[in-house]
Amino acid sequence: MRTSRFLLFLVAAFLTAGTLLAQLSPKEQLGKFIFFDNTLSSPTGQSCASCHAPQVGFTGPSSIVNNTTVVYEGAVTGVFGNRKPPTAAYGGSSPVMYFDTKSHLFIGGMFWDGRATGWELGDPLSEQARGPFLNPREQNNPSAAAVVYKVQTSAYSGLFMTVYPGTNWSDITTTYNNIAGAISAYEKSSEVNPFTSKYDYYLKGMVKLSKDEQKGLSLFKGKGKCDKCHLSKQGPKGQPPMFTDFTYDNLGIPKNPQNPFYIEFPNWVDPGLGGFLQTVSQYSQYAAENYGKHKVPTLRNVDLRPDPAFIKAYGHNGFFKSLKDIVHFYNTRDVEEWPVPEVAANMNTAELGNLKLTDADEDAIVAFLKTLSDGYVIENSAYSRYMDEENDSKPVLMQNAPNPFNPTTIIRFELPEAGFVTLKVYNTLGQEVSVLLNRYESAGLKSVVFNAGSLPSGIYFYRLQSGNTILQNKMLLLK
Ligand code: HEC
Ligand code: HEC
Repeated sequence: MRTSRFLLFLVAAFLTAGTLLAQLSPKEQLGKFIFFDNTLSSPTGQSCASCHAPQVGFTGPSSIVNNTTVVYEGAVTGVFGNRKPPTAAYGGSSPVMYFDTKSHLFIGGMFWDGRATGWELGDPLSEQARGPFLNPREQNNPSAAAVVYKVQTSAYSGLFMTVYPGTNWSDITTTYNNIAGAISAYEKSSEVNPFTSKYDYYLKGMVKLSKDEQKGLSLFKGKGKCDKCHLSKQGPKGQPPMFTDFTYDNLGIPKNPQNPFYIEFPNWVDPGLGGFLQTVSQYSQYAAENYGKHKVPTLRNVDLRPDPAFIKAYGHNGFFKSLKDIVHFYNTRDVEEWPVPEVAANMNTAELGNLKLTDADEDAIVAFLKTLSDGYVIENSAYSRYMDEENDSKPVLMQNAPNPFNPTTIIRFELPEAGFVTLKVYNTLGQEVSVLLNRYESAGLKSVVFNAGSLPSGIYFYRLQSGNTILQNKMLLLK
């Protein structure tokens, strides 16, 4: 039993070897091991990543499932969840849930219905992470003790004891909360929240948006009213926008007839936040006015997909199969034929339903939404003009040689003046896999040897940052 779990772990470690080198703190690294450990289910085979995979922006990784049932099967065959997996990334800044007396709105928490409030641990993400292991519709472990035992006997239990010194494995409550705390740390790490989208670079003045994307952004903030809930502006200290205000709303999305949960329970209606509030004596008086409301999700990575034909589903029940569909719904809910809403009460009629956008406007909004995917590559060519305009004594980054390479290659660059320089290597998901330079450098022509000995074959990006300039090139490792 232990041997086979250890083997599985080794295979998983090998498959993720490229990302193991990322600069994570020990606690974040521990959380990552747990997040990807598919022995932490009963039967084994399902990890958090089974429903929250990095290549799709930490949401559901099966195009077929997204196009049909939308909800994912748990560890037990034939047992399904009732909602679409939202992204597990960019959730760290959701506050502990509170009732804002001024706006009369509930703000914060995790899950579509907010039930991981953060009231107990002070961290909604940690509270969320305690759920899936024990949920019979997800990882289906019989008890917290069973999960703790698996972690205690895992290949990373040594790391666990380093991160949590004095671990007492028979204190199930504390250890289980610490497991959740490590997952939360990973979910808040820069690997999961890299802020490497085109829009992030645009906000930093490093790239320009295309005409269509620019038009989409204007509509997003203006006529489309999207910005009223999905905030697109930087914070007062330049914090990157999270594209949510952490409130709840009922958009009037129709039932998804393909969701097997509705087939299992034909009369079930998703109560959203109202359903949760009903269980809290302090707030049950607000249940009715929040019936059918769901959390405003971040829009970061809504378009991130492994290939253009890959289907993603949108909304709490995945009714929509494309960004164009959901934008068209916002635009025309009240003036075209749409199936009846799942919940008609509390439907928002002030900010959506009849936006009077043209077809080209809808396309522009979709084009803008596509700029929110992490791992955007700034090609040198896109920079040359920027460099010419600004200052022609900027650094230069040359193509590595040899290229393709195995396993070493040389990266050369030129610095017009001395200064602090970083040179980092990223994989195609935008995850940092190596830091080659992070120090003060004198002016001149420099070369650095990159050894990709432990990385899998594939495309990598190397990025040089010096002052305000960031340059990036592609290279190919062929083993
Ligand atoms: C079987 C699929 C499945 C598995 C396995 C799973 N999740 Fe989820 N996850 C979901 C679904 C579905 C939701 C939304 C449920 C709801 O809102 O009621 C969700 C919600 C979340 C959220 C809330 C995001 C938000 O914006 O509110 C986070 C974070 C998350 N999961 C992390 C995890 C972690 C960590 C694990 C492993 C311990 C995990 N999930 C395992 C399907 C899954
Ligand atoms: C009144 C607040 C509000 C406004 C205005 C709004 N949204 Fe949303 N958005 C939400 C909520 C709430 C959800 C989740 C609803 C649900 O699933 O029931 C959502 C979901 C989405 C999703 C699906 C994300 C996912 O992960 O499933 C996309 C995409 C989206 N909105 C884009 C937009 C665009 C584009 C606009 C402008 C045309 C817009 N929204 C305007 C509140 C809003």
